Amino acid sequence: MKNWNVRKTIVAREDMPAEHRLKQSLSWPHLVALGVGAIVGTGILTLIGVGAGKAGPAVILSFAIAGVICACAALAYAEVATMIPASGSAYTYSYTVFGELIAWMIGVALILEYTLVVSAVAVGWSGYASGFLKSIGLGLPDALIQGPELGGVINVPAIFIIWVVAGLLIAGTRESATLNAILVLIKIAALALFIAVALPVFDASHFHPFMPFGFPRSGASGSEVGVMAAAAIIFFAFYGFDAIATAAEEAKDPSRDLAIGIVGSMIVCVAIYMAVAAAAIGAVAYTGFANSAEPLALILRQINQPWAARILGASAVVALPTVILAFFFGQSRIFFTVARDGLLPSSLARVSSRGTPVRITIFTAVVTSVFAGLIPLTSIAALANAGTLAAFIAVCAAMLVLRRREPNRERKFRAPAAPLVAAVGILGCLYLFISLPNRTQMFFFAAQGIGILLYFIYGHGAAARARGEARG
Ligand code: ALA
Repeated sequence: MKNWNVRKTIVAREDMPAEHRLKQSLSWPHLVALGVGAIVGTGILTLIGVGAGKAGPAVILSFAIAGVICACAALAYAEVATMIPASGSAYTYSYTVFGELIAWMIGVALILEYTLVVSAVAVGWSGYASGFLKSIGLGLPDALIQGPELGGVINVPAIFIIWVVAGLLIAGTRESATLNAILVLIKIAALALFIAVALPVFDASHFHPFMPFGFPRSGASGSEVGVMAAAAIIFFAFYGFDAIATAAEEAKDPSRDLAIGIVGSMIVCVAIYMAVAAAAIGAVAYTGFANSAEPLALILRQINQPWAARILGASAVVALPTVILAFFFGQSRIFFTVARDGLLPSSLARVSSRGTPVRITIFTAVVTSVFAGLIPLTSIAALANAGTLAAFIAVCAAMLVLRRREPNRERKFRAPAAPLVAAVGILGCLYLFISLPNRTQMFFFAAQGIGILLYFIYGHGAAARARGEARG
């Protein structure tokens, strides 16, 4: 009998057919680099300015709130990922813990997250890259650097960078992860430079008034401002550690490497962000960089350090692709896992002789190129957050359910104070979700509605057939 509530059993790696087995080539330094590579990006480089516009100096509080909620989700991820070290991240955990329909819904949420982050960061990269080309006299026509909503035709650089990253992934996971580690170092060095240059001009008076737009969003006027509205956007800056979990099957020692990768990269990033946010607000009054397309570089120019602004800008162009790489990697693995389960055509799940899923990677590149080529950055970041919040809620809930259902099962990593961590994770993510713009929430529910429809039309039966169940 076909059953939407059917739960997935994790197949041991040795028992999988060779063409469905991913190559185990990653150890924990690769995973920490993958995590930091995925976390530090457009959020701290660009959305800090959007956050300052919504919260004023209290954007630092928005960073702290989003960081605490993400840290709770990271702990839950680490526990669940080491118990279920299989590709697919929150999708696979939901399949194992809650059954097929919830897994499908989380799959849709993850696909929103990963697709839209890849597209959003590609658009952000395009902004920096076009600016750089312009500065050396090679400016592209406006029609080719932005989508129709902003008066252009198509964003060519954004599509270009997506295909470069796709090529890296097709060439082989390990090589890409090593290159990623080098680019991560460049990114961290650029942020360290920002802190070192901005801190000496720290002026505490820039923190007054601290909370000019209040705490919750002010719904009445429809203008979404306040500390929580900023936190709901700034949240974008913190996630990415979950991309490590999607690499579970490719880790050499999944139990140990995943926990170190997830918790380690989260700690590194929270520390860096708090320092960058404090240095930014201390250096220049928030009105001086709010809503800028390149707030950190702008701050450096305003404090008369144009050389540092140039280095920071160039580093962004070189290093932002690490974020695209990590989410691209995660996206292709999620499609791969969903297809392997039969919920998408299983021919998509074949891996090449190099152990990489080529078809899925190309499919992902096509989908993300369409978004990146046509849609503006701000419209996509909030929707990516909505998908991520749903996935984080599912993972926190899965940790709780597994603690109750299988209390004695071995846990290589145990989240401390699990009920509290799960409660803060779930309630915090819900609060962030309702603090997102109404339009974003509507898009999210529309995507889920379409997803559920597709599940009953196609996925439900296809997955049953993939399990060898009779039709009907
Ligand atoms: N955290 C990632 C970024 O800020 C998505 O770009």
